[in-house]
Amino acid sequence: DDAKVFDRIELAGGGFINIRLSPEVIKEELKRIVKAGSAWGRVKTKNKHKETVIVEYSAPNIAKPMHVGHLRSTIIGDAIANVYEFLGYGVVRWNYLGDWGTQFGKLIVAYKLWGKRREVARNPIEELEKLYVRFHKELKDNPALEAEGRDEFKKLETGDKKNRKLWRWFKKESLKEFNRVYNRLGVSFSTQIGEAFYEKELEGIINLLKEEKLTQESEGALMIELERFDLPPVMIRKSDGATLYFTREVANLKYRIEEYEPKRILYVVANEQTLHFNQLFAVAKMLDLAKGKDMPELAHVKFGLVRGEAGKKLSTREGTAVKLNELLDRSVKLSQEALSTRKVDLKRSEAKETAEILGMGAVKYNDLSQHPSGDIVFDW
Ligand code: ARG
Repeated sequence: DDAKVFDRIELAGGGFINIRLSPEVIKEELKRIVKAGSAWGRVKTKNKHKETVIVEYSAPNIAKPMHVGHLRSTIIGDAIANVYEFLGYGVVRWNYLGDWGTQFGKLIVAYKLWGKRREVARNPIEELEKLYVRFHKELKDNPALEAEGRDEFKKLETGDKKNRKLWRWFKKESLKEFNRVYNRLGVSFSTQIGEAFYEKELEGIINLLKEEKLTQESEGALMIELERFDLPPVMIRKSDGATLYFTREVANLKYRIEEYEPKRILYVVANEQTLHFNQLFAVAKMLDLAKGKDMPELAHVKFGLVRGEAGKKLSTREGTAVKLNELLDRSVKLSQEALSTRKVDLKRSEAKETAEILGMGAVKYNDLSQHPSGDIVFDW
């Protein structure tokens, strides 16, 4: 009802109505934007006692290159964390690194058989990836490698000095590479506690599940029946005694609840893992992890796959996956080209900096402008 707000309102045909704001109103709002700075647009929330929200995102696996799937999780998760922070929540940004599991036994076997220290040191992620791929290739003719991988993992688990040292080295090199990507994207984390951290808790978790009478033996393995949730059973210990991704996930949830008493935990993970999280949330319902206090809300924030041409799945092994650094570099290069066609008066160094900012912004915008649950077909 304030005529000053609108400059003009008109029927534009085809079912459209054009509403033009008056220059006065726009001027006033611009003043407010300048004054409020980054707080502009903030709504007062009832969040008086600063509730904690854990936003878990990125979570790549060490000794493997980060791929476009992790990029989606990183970008969407970071945006969600920013929004919660803006609203005044205590936000824990969690990079749950995939730094444990039987695959490290395989990698250690491959490294001991074919790895060259110098080459790995020069180009860690690429060389480790090659070793891992070679392991799977040779496995076809030499099935005994499987058992060797199990043995090396067992040794790693029980503290074998040499294997621990290798694992620490792989992890350190991986983090260096991941951090390059995070720095470029301006993404940071409050904690990078990953799967390995829970190693010592796993026996306790299994005992807890047993005490609650939730487990069943099946051919030597330990399972949890989830029939009443309409879900398939989930394995928490293999017949050879090894624990699984799921076992560590339960330990992870328990730790988060005990350490942070969060109001909410968001898992920003591809929709491929929907079953895994449904099973986790079902087990959480059966266990009283909050010890009588309120359980946090748990949510799987899903997103679709990034597919290659013709909708095919991108695969590192088939060489169709696009490397992250290549993606970021090319985005910057395209921004540079776009910049150079315009009449902008920038010094060389400024132009370079601007292209980097635009390039990163373009990659983020591309992701955030699409519906998260849909698949993306990759196209330069
Ligand atoms: N590291 C896993 C992967 O790359 C993702 C971890 C997702 N988060 C979790 N809490 N399970 O597939």
